Parts: sequence; structure tokens; C-alpha cells
Amino acid sequence: MDPVAVIVVAFWAMLPAYVPNNVAVLAGGGRPIDGGRTWRGDRLLGDGKTWRGTATGTLAGAALAVALNAVRPSLSPLFGAELVGFSAPVVLAMPFGAMVGDTTASFLKRRTGRERGAPFPGVDQLDFVVFALLLSALAAPSWFGSTFLDPVWVLVAVLLVTPALHVLTNAIAYVLGLKDEPY
Ligand code: CTP
Ligand code: MG
Repeated sequence: MDPVAVIVVAFWAMLPAYVPNNVAVLAGGGRPIDGGRTWRGDRLLGDGKTWRGTATGTLAGAALAVALNAVRPSLSPLFGAELVGFSAPVVLAMPFGAMVGDTTASFLKRRTGRERGAPFPGVDQLDFVVFALLLSALAAPSWFGSTFLDPVWVLVAVLLVTPALHVLTNAIAYVLGLKDEPY
């Protein structure tokens, strides 16, 4: 695979994991998952992790995966690359994994004394990717292997391109007034 095809394939495969966090920012709010509970004086997760944000984010990512399956046959020849399809377990594992990663990061932020909205460089940019990959690897091991490890450059591209995309989309959301912080 040439480098451009590797990036196209990686971006396509990760789309269902990219969308949930952004949808949660737009549609989230309401009752926090931790119900206000604290642990050792700090919130378990904080007010930034809500049921509505998690549910709408996961559903939006799953709906996108289903939509991508539908347009895949006509788009693959256009990009000159074999765009991967999303089976039922993957349709859920990618977006839900992204939300689990984001929530895990908030848990770690609270344990390390970071207030809601405080940056956690590195973790903020990769939490959702790592967990989306982890959950999809557990839900569909052979799909994970053929998509991200064959060739392994697809996984490398995901880990390099995602942080850059994350920084860019959050900066845009900040400028548009959708997010309180630019990260
Ligand atoms: N959001 C939500 N539910 C989620 C994730 C996000 O409702 N599972 C919404 C919240 O309104 C949140 C906003 O999206 O404030 C921005 O998300 P994020 O940056 O992940 O949360 P923060 O408020 O920065 O909190 P934290 O420090 O815990 O990341
Ligand atoms: Mg934040």
C-alpha cells in the first residue's frame, strides 16, 4: 500500500471512533454518570461525563459505521483503496470504545487532581483511539488484525494522524464557541 492509501484506509476505519466525542460535546449534558459521587475528595468522573453524551455519541458513531457500510462499494474504487467494512460487533465496539476511553481519561484526570476541563497532554489526544482499538480487537480479533496490522502501517498512521486531527477539530470547536477549551 502506498502512504496515501495507508492514511485513507486508517482514517476510514477510525471514523466511527472519531465522531462520538464530538457528538457528545454537542448533544451532551444532563445527569453525570457518576451521579455526583466522589472518591477520596475528588469526583469519580466529573460533570463532563454524562449519560446523554455517552449514549448519543455511541449511537452517532454506530449510525455512521452503518452509513459507511452502505457507501463503501461506491467509494472504494474512487479512493483506489480497499475500504474496510464494519461488522455488527465493530459497529458498536468502535464508538463505545471511544467513549470508554474518554471516560477513563476523566477518571485518571480526577485521580491526578485535574479539574474538569483541565488538559492532560497525550491522554486527551489518544484515550479514545486506544480504547476503540482495544474494544474492537476484543470484539472482532480477525477484523482488527486484517484492518490495522496488515500492513502494520495502518495502525502507525492511526496513532500519528489521530492526535493531529484531535487538536485541529477541538481548536475549530473552540473557535466556533462549542467547546470551553481549545483541547
Ligand atoms: N460530554 C458529555 N458526555 C460525555 C463526554 C462529553 O456530556 N461522555 C460533554 C460535556 O458537556 C463535556 C463536553 O462534552 O463538558 C466536553 O467533553 P470533554 O472535553 O470530554 O469533557 P470536560 O468537560 O473537559 O471534562 P474532563 O476534564 O472530564 O475531560
Ligand atoms: Mg475537555
